[in-house]
Amino acid sequence: MPLYILFVYFLHPVLGAMTLGGAIVLTLLTVWTELKSRKLASAAQQAHLTRNAIADSNARNADVLKAMGFAGRAVARFNTANQDHLTLQTRASDVVGTFGAFSRVLRMVLQSALLGTGAYLTIQGQMSAGAIIAVSVAASRALAPIDMAIGNWKGVVAARQAFKRLRDTMVALAGMTKPLDLPAPTNSLKVDKVTVAAPASGRVLLTEVAFELKAGQGLGVIGPSGGGKTTLVRALTGIWPALRGAIRLDDADLTQWDEEKIGEYVGYLPQDVALLDGTIVENITRLAPQRDARAIVAATKAAGVHEMIVRLPDGYDTQLGPMGTALSAGQRQRIGLARALYGDPFMVIMDEPNAFLDAEGEQALNLAIRQIRARGGIAVIVAHRPSILAEVDMVAVIQNGRMTAFGPKEEIVAGQRQANANVPKVVEPLAETGELA
Ligand SMILES: Nc1ncnc2c1ncn2[C@@H]1O[C@H](COP(=O)(O)OP(=O)(O)O)[C@@H](O)[C@H]1O
Ligand SMILES: [Mg+2]
Repeated sequence: MPLYILFVYFLHPVLGAMTLGGAIVLTLLTVWTELKSRKLASAAQQAHLTRNAIADSNARNADVLKAMGFAGRAVARFNTANQDHLTLQTRASDVVGTFGAFSRVLRMVLQSALLGTGAYLTIQGQMSAGAIIAVSVAASRALAPIDMAIGNWKGVVAARQAFKRLRDTMVALAGMTKPLDLPAPTNSLKVDKVTVAAPASGRVLLTEVAFELKAGQGLGVIGPSGGGKTTLVRALTGIWPALRGAIRLDDADLTQWDEEKIGEYVGYLPQDVALLDGTIVENITRLAPQRDARAIVAATKAAGVHEMIVRLPDGYDTQLGPMGTALSAGQRQRIGLARALYGDPFMVIMDEPNAFLDAEGEQALNLAIRQIRARGGIAVIVAHRPSILAEVDMVAVIQNGRMTAFGPKEEIVAGQRQANANVPKVVEPLAETGELA
């Protein structure tokens, strides 16, 4: 731009001044566009995210929507969000479009004025006729960038927002260094006065839990719903960082491990098993690039799911839809168990693994726990039904965000029975633990 304006100025100062003036007016127009469209563009972006989140949740809950007949209202909610998004989008486009049209008109006017003035100056003998053409071409080159900037202002705003998000992420990531590769844990899990808060709200959900497990031990975690069992599991797996205290594998704090590496030593079966869109093999091997058939079959046999998989038409290559819809909840849970057992991780954590299992599935689960302990691993099982406690030697009771008891199974179960006798309805699942004895 400056080069072209300078060129016009040397052809004739008056024409140069006019071009410069035009450039300034157009720049002001660009700034004005920015001021007018900034809020709208980011609001439109936000509405876009909201709308997509609603679509996503509707798709995930399709079964519930259909069964209880509120699909219509769910769609209406999506439509409202969609309408909001479209309205904002249209308004943002209108602003940018209006200013774009303005700037184009202005440029035309300026171009004509330059030609007219050039002609006048030529008649006055101050300039050659060829210079008019040169001025016209150079001036249009000088002003085109501003024109283009206004026309594409939406892209500029979006790029700036994306840059800001990236920068925030980079700042957050910059503080992390890649930890040293520690050897595989083989000895112990130590939970060192751990306090856990929900990341979003910061509410403390679990206070000062401390216990220690040695290789070969199995821990059953029992307690009422909402007591904090899943919260403990989230801390043990490192999903939620400990607010205070530490989770240690062979004395090394979880945070000292490389996130990718720790996955080899931790098997995790979440309470709501969600399988990835992909084949059964991809799910079990955790998307490993190469298929280790021996390890895969070892894991599925340990989870008692091998026979069920090979009976499927596509066997191990069965493609699972969203949430593994091709399978029943019990089948999904057993594939989730195979995924947790894959590669014989040192610590296997299962959150209510028997929620959907039949008797046969529970037998497989008990066998899996016995195998983990026999090979020198540590098994942590959150249990609602006591039948699962058959294979553990230690029991922890989690109630109201605290660990109220921890010790050998026989002691805790006896203690619980006594407590239950005194206060008849302490914990419903604990009352059932009497069956164990
Ligand atoms: N993501 C979360 N954010 C805030 N609070 C949560 C979250 N998840 C669970 N909670 C709360 O933490 C408490 C313990 O929940 P949880 O550990 O899931 O219990 P349990 O697994 O024993 O049934 C509950 O009161 C629950 O409302
Ligand atoms: Mg839970």
